[in-house]
This record gives sequence, C-alpha cells and structure tokens, in this order.
Amino acid sequence: MSCISVENIKQGMVLSEDVRDINNRLLLSKDQKITQKHIRILKIWGVTAIHVMSEGGIETKEEPDINPEVIEIVQDTTKNIFKNIDLDHPAMSEIFRLSVLHRSQNYQSIKVSDDKLIPGKIPVGEHRTDIRKQIEMQKLTLPEIPSIVNELNEVTADPNASANDISKIVVKSPSLTAILLKIANSAFYSFPFKIDNISRAITLIGSKEITGLALGISVMQVFKDIPQEFIDMNSFLKHSLACGIAARILASQRNMSQTEQMFAAGLLHDIGRLIIYKYFPDQAKNLFQIMTNSSQSLYHAENSYLRCRHPEIGKFLFKKWNLPKSLEDCVFYHHRPTNSHYPIEAGIVHIADIVVNGLGIGSSGERFIPLFDDGIWEKLKLIPTIFKSIIDQVTHQLSVFETLLMKEI
Ligand SMILES: [Fe+2]
Ligand SMILES: [Fe+2]
Repeated sequence: MSCISVENIKQGMVLSEDVRDINNRLLLSKDQKITQKHIRILKIWGVTAIHVMSEGGIETKEEPDINPEVIEIVQDTTKNIFKNIDLDHPAMSEIFRLSVLHRSQNYQSIKVSDDKLIPGKIPVGEHRTDIRKQIEMQKLTLPEIPSIVNELNEVTADPNASANDISKIVVKSPSLTAILLKIANSAFYSFPFKIDNISRAITLIGSKEITGLALGISVMQVFKDIPQEFIDMNSFLKHSLACGIAARILASQRNMSQTEQMFAAGLLHDIGRLIIYKYFPDQAKNLFQIMTNSSQSLYHAENSYLRCRHPEIGKFLFKKWNLPKSLEDCVFYHHRPTNSHYPIEAGIVHIADIVVNGLGIGSSGERFIPLFDDGIWEKLKLIPTIFKSIIDQVTHQLSVFETLLMKEI
C-alpha cells in the first residue's frame, strides 16, 4: 500500500482504504478502481492524498525498507523523547510507532535539528525573572496589536458580518491577501480551479474559516523578527503550522462542524514561547541550558525558572488583544485539556501537539513529548488507527504550506 498525493492519482489505481472528505463523509470505498470522474470528485471535495494498492492490485507491506541499524538508533532516541509518556496507552503506542518510522525515514534532517540543542555556558542563576508577577501586575511587555487583528476580532464577534465586510479588511493587507490566495489555491483545499480574489475564496471556503486563517497568520506575522540566534524560527513555524494542520484534520475526523478555528488554535498554541524568545532572550538561553543539563522538559523549566509557563503567557496576550475566547482557551489548556471550557477543541490541539512533537516536525524549543492528558482521549472518541492517515495528510499538506508560507510569516 502506498499513500499518494491527489496530483499523482492515475486512472486504474485501486483504493486500499476508504476515502473520506474533510467532514468525514465517505466518498469512495476501499477496492474501488479509480476513474477520471473519481479524480475530479476527489479534487472537488478537497481530498489531498489517498491510499492505493501497489501496481497489479497486490497490497505490499506498509512500512518502507529502512536500514535496521537506523531503526534501532532512532528507536532509542525516540524512547528518550517519549520518556514521560505511558507507551502502554494504545494511542501513545501507535504515535510512538509511527514517530520511529517517520524519524527513521527522515533520519538525517531530524538528527540535525535535534543536534542544534547544544548546552550553553551561561550561569543559570542569572536573569531569573518572575513573569507570573509581571502578568499579575499587568506589566508584561507585549507587542502592539496590529490594526488588522483588531478589525478581524470585530468581524469575528459580529454575527451579522458579511463576506464583503471580511473581504474589505483582508484586502487592506496585500501580504495577507497573497498568503490567503496561495492557501486557497493549494492542496490544503485542492479546488480544481484557480481562485484569484478574496471574495471568491470566502464564498468557496467560508467566511469563518477565512477569518480564522487570517487571524492566525496575522498574529504569527508579529513575531517574524525574532533573531535566529538561539531559536530557529523556521523550525518554530514548521512546528506551529504542522500542529495547525493536524488540529484541522483531527477536527474533521471527529466530524466537528466548527473546524474553522482549529487551524488558528494549532498555529498559535505555543505563542507564549515567542513572547519569551522576543522579550526575554537571556532567560530563554538559560531555559535551554536548564533543559539540556537537567533533562527537564522546557515546559517544567519554564515554571521553575520564570514561575510561569508558556500557556499562561499566551493567554495573557490573547486577553490583551481581545482574541476569541475559544481560541484563548485552547491555547491556555493545550497541555491539560480536560480542565478546559472547550475540552474537545483544546484536546484536539493537545493530541496534534503530541503527534507533531513525536514526528520531530520543527520544534518550539521543547525536546520531550508533552505529558499526555489521558482523560481527554476518552472524550475525543478517536481510534489509534487514524494516526497513520492523519500523519500522511499532515506531511503532505505541510510540504505545500512550507513552500508557500515560510518566507511570508
Ligand atoms: Fe505548548
Ligand atoms: Fe507545541
């Protein structure tokens, strides 16, 4: 069996798995022979990749040939990364298995990014800062809210806002317009025709979905000037984009009707870390040192060194900027979603974050897989076997996003 992108589907191929659209509706059943008409349907319904039998209709083994020595090395390093995770849990065990496979297939690139976390030589006692106190006293420095974010907030809160109102805001920013059109014309949606203006994109994609995308991208753009000195911003963005994509796909797997904010929630989940990197660079260097020397997770080091973890910092920004409450809640609870007022949404971001950390797609600075909130797994009603196709879709959509967006955000 192999997973191929929709652009490479040919007539006569035979499906080895059911094909469902973004809302989990069955489009084509397993064993169906693909015709030209099917290819058109798949593109119209936004399917990005399918699983097909190998040539001749014989299903080959699922895992590609990888040097067993590489698998052994990767298994050991991945076990260390998963050291705080209960691998007896069926969902975590499947994510671990797929992570070893993905890391083995991408051995060189992931090994290099792990190697970037080299211990520094800054005395850890210096630059200790109480960020919680700064938040409590409303004194934490934050970036100015961009006017476009303000306007998008208003339109999100207004139930009577029309597609025209949203279009008027978006077109004020040529860079945002260009990014949104690129996304609309990408494999993220796979429309079989070109979309050349925002009004058309809103009509086809939906005003809430476009507003969610616009909001997430505009907030992220504020942080694009963070120096590469100690955090690789491309890697951070890759982690965030992959999490946004995974959250959106997980939401569709659950048949959620309101998936439009899930991409933005995934994209922005670690935004609190960007505030640490932007305004507390010396403390951030020390955090990395503590993490490396003590084998603590970054999440725990944040609390011991700054008295505050990145979700709280992210919440403070979301509150100050008046961003939608559901988004704020997802960001605040993405490490402990069962406590959230929106547990399903926060739970989806939580699982997306674990998957993306497991695969080693980019990094927000964290070396270890975030602690798993197993209470949320029951609530989400997902099954572990979905992760294979979710990961295939995430890697496919991310490759498209990367070429389109990495320079723009
Ligand atoms: Fe996080
Ligand atoms: Fe994360």
